[in-house]
Amino acid sequence: MRIPSTLVEVLLVFALFCSSPWTVWSSNTLCQQTNEEVRPHSVSITEFGAVGDGVTLNTKAFQNAIFYLNSFADKGGAKLFVPAGRWLTGSFDLISHLTLWLDKDAVILGSTNPEDWPVVDPLPSYGRGRELPGGRHKSLIYGHNLTDVIITGNNGTIDGQGSIWWNRFMNRTLDYTRPHLVELMNSTGVLISNLTFLNSPFWTIHPVYCSQVTVQNVRILAPHDSPNTDGIDPDSSDNVCIEDCYISTGDDLIAIKSGWDEYGIAYGRPSTNIIIHRLVGKTQTSGIAIGSEMSGGVSEVHAEDIQFYDSYNGIRIKTSPGRGGYVRNIYVSNVSLANVDIAIWFTGSYGEHPDDAYDPNALPVIEKVTIKDVVGENIKTAGLIEGIEGDNFVNICLSNIILNVTSNYPWNCSYVKGYSDLVQPEACEPLKERIFPDHCSDCYYLTNQIQSSNSQNRAGQTSGDIRG
Ligand SMILES: *[C@@H]1O[C@H](CO)[C@@H](O)[C@H](O)[C@H]1NC(C)=O
Ligand SMILES: *[C@@H]1O[C@H](CO)[C@@H](O)[C@H](O)[C@H]1NC(C)=O
Ligand SMILES: *[C@@H]1O[C@H](CO)[C@@H](O)[C@H](O)[C@H]1NC(C)=O
Ligand SMILES: *[C@@H]1O[C@H](CO)[C@@H](O)[C@H](O)[C@H]1NC(C)=O
Ligand SMILES: *[C@@H]1O[C@H](CO)[C@@H](O)[C@H](O)[C@H]1NC(C)=O
Ligand SMILES: *[C@@H]1O[C@H](CO)[C@@H](O)[C@H](O)[C@H]1NC(C)=O
Ligand SMILES: *[C@@H]1O[C@H](CO)[C@@H](O)[C@H](O)[C@H]1NC(C)=O
Ligand SMILES: *[C@@H]1O[C@H](CO)[C@@H](O)[C@H](O)[C@H]1NC(C)=O
Repeated sequence: MRIPSTLVEVLLVFALFCSSPWTVWSSNTLCQQTNEEVRPHSVSITEFGAVGDGVTLNTKAFQNAIFYLNSFADKGGAKLFVPAGRWLTGSFDLISHLTLWLDKDAVILGSTNPEDWPVVDPLPSYGRGRELPGGRHKSLIYGHNLTDVIITGNNGTIDGQGSIWWNRFMNRTLDYTRPHLVELMNSTGVLISNLTFLNSPFWTIHPVYCSQVTVQNVRILAPHDSPNTDGIDPDSSDNVCIEDCYISTGDDLIAIKSGWDEYGIAYGRPSTNIIIHRLVGKTQTSGIAIGSEMSGGVSEVHAEDIQFYDSYNGIRIKTSPGRGGYVRNIYVSNVSLANVDIAIWFTGSYGEHPDDAYDPNALPVIEKVTIKDVVGENIKTAGLIEGIEGDNFVNICLSNIILNVTSNYPWNCSYVKGYSDLVQPEACEPLKERIFPDHCSDCYYLTNQIQSSNSQNRAGQTSGDIRG
């Protein structure tokens, strides 16, 4: 096709592409930047006195190695090599232009002494720790204000040894909110790949206020009864690609967030341009969730080629009066579910507020959510779709959803309006309007967003541009 030259032609091209409400726009370019960067300098953690016996605490060795490698940050960056062994450590901070590389049979083990995970400030978009007032323990692997950071290797493992945290959470003996396994804050150009993440104390991988983040080919595992061990939680972050992951944990496999009630509204940083594809997993809660903290807004989420099995719920939106913000332009397709209690679940009354200062009149806007091409075997309930009185969730589109449902009350909908086509069992009354072009995803807008994010992403991800 020749390049269209006039505005009219551009609009015609979009009209052609968008003549079906289910236009599939390409998402792949956001995720293409995965070649291992060649760092000109490399050191092994053993050169800094680390001992991989699973007993010796190596926090100082990690800190010293990274302090040393900082002198190469403006010379092409450096690689910290972690060989086979069991490397016990407390929290340490990454730097820009660093590759943390875990060899086969290398295991970084989180210390089981909470004092090795110092307490840091709460996130401004949460106003306090997520589970307790005040600060929160710092993640095992932490980065703030960084560019060009890679955490990868040849199938090595990062193990948070979270059971002591889960027990202390359950017996209520924690003073501060539990730590993540990996948190990158306010950083650009992050790649996490080819590793296994085990037993996080809390959410496993938490990019917050980040841009251009890729999580690729990782396994994330935690026991099904471990509390709040979410897999990957992009939070107030944009241009995020999550692909080829297997996640089996105690809470949401992926939860897209953007801050909590009045703090999230004031901080105002959305999560947008999020691509998820080829995700497989199981959980006692939800496969892909949005919220419940979504006060900075969540938009342009594209998830496809998803398989969830032996799980409580597939696709979830959670929100509440007081959250404010919005969830819009969400597109989920090609989902396969097996042994799942609730296929699609929207909750407008999630509750959980940081304090009493939230504004109950701050109502979230939930609109333009498209779910298509879903098959499900042994599903209990097809959809539990609960909006907010006086604040309907609108423009919800369901297409080609074929579920083998065991309950004789498959859909339960309130305060919601939308469209459906080829849905079995037949959708609830408020979602029964016929689908016309333009009712569903706003394809012109989405196409533009993804195209512009692709060009930004390519620029940011080439090492020359980052360092230049
Ligand atoms: C991850 O593994 C894949 C497949 O083995 C490889 O192509 C890719 O380069 C690796 N990524 C990194 C960052 O090493
Ligand atoms: C991050 O950048 C901000 C603004 O420059 C600064 O106030 C803050 O101290 C930095 N934090 C770290 C850990 O570098
Ligand atoms: C990494 O580990 C997974 C799971 O054990 C295995 O399937 C895969 O082949 C391994 N990859 C490499 C490159 O060793
Ligand atoms: C709570 O759990 C922790 C970790 O297992 C344990 O050390 C502590 O003794 C428990 N405290 C109480 C009061 O049960
Ligand atoms: C993030 O970094 C920018 C500059 O790079 C800075 O202005 C801002 O204060 C930082 N924010 C946080 C939360 O560190
Ligand atoms: C749907 O996803 C599955 C993986 O879950 C993949 O094998 C299949 O090719 C996808 N179908 C389409 C039409 O893309
Ligand atoms: C639905 O499940 C029932 C009971 O397991 C089974 O007999 C039936 O063949 C299934 N139908 C489809 C369309 O898969
Ligand atoms: C429908 O969902 C509401 C919550 O939104 C619940 O209170 C009600 O019991 C459900 N009805 C049935 C028949 O399951």
